[in-house]
Amino acid sequence: MLRPLHMAHAFLEEILMPDAVAIDATMGNGHDTLFLAQRAGRVLAFDIQQAALDTTQRRLLEAGFENVELILAGHETVSQHVSSAKVAIFNLGYLPSADKSVITQPETTLSAIEQICQLLEVGGRLAIMVYYGHAGGDVERDAVLDFVKTLPQTKFTVAIYQTINQMNNPPFLIMVEKLRET
Ligand SMILES: C[S@@+](CC[C@H](N)C(=O)[O-])C[C@H]1O[C@@H](n2cnc3c(N)ncnc32)[C@H](O)[C@@H]1O
Repeated sequence: MLRPLHMAHAFLEEILMPDAVAIDATMGNGHDTLFLAQRAGRVLAFDIQQAALDTTQRRLLEAGFENVELILAGHETVSQHVSSAKVAIFNLGYLPSADKSVITQPETTLSAIEQICQLLEVGGRLAIMVYYGHAGGDVERDAVLDFVKTLPQTKFTVAIYQTINQMNNPPFLIMVEKLRET
């Protein structure tokens, strides 16, 4: 069975093409950024920590990819940087190797999700990996779930992929597909 993160990648990979624009809303160590760079034409990756940009830059250089814009800014500024995208991904929570007090926040996360829902192409997809075991993670989880449940079914399909028999707050995946222009 696929783990949620692998399911997230499979969900996005299905529609990624060499001319696609992709957004990594939470760059971190750049694992998702590299995944997108290997499959899309242009990638915009966001993080508020310089350490994330440094690590990701190194990862991309080693792999030989130059189709990525690394943006030192919050994902809540996403629509200032790009007007249309085929796919986007979030990994909520903190960067494991860095300051664990720097976490994604409900207000900015919701703002970014809302903007991305607007700017996604019809047929485009958004994957949100929800990590909620840290302090405040449950508040963000609930805020995100409450928001995506309100997306109109005529314009978006929303699904969850989650294990239901595991201990220790296992992460889960929210999948959003845009059906029609909003
Ligand atoms: C779970 S980590 C991401 C892991 C990453 N996808 C990877 O492959 O390594 C979450 C990241 O979100 C970043 N972050 C927190 N608030 C943010 C914001 N408003 N905009 C963009 N990134 C943010 C953190 O700095 C952290 O690096």
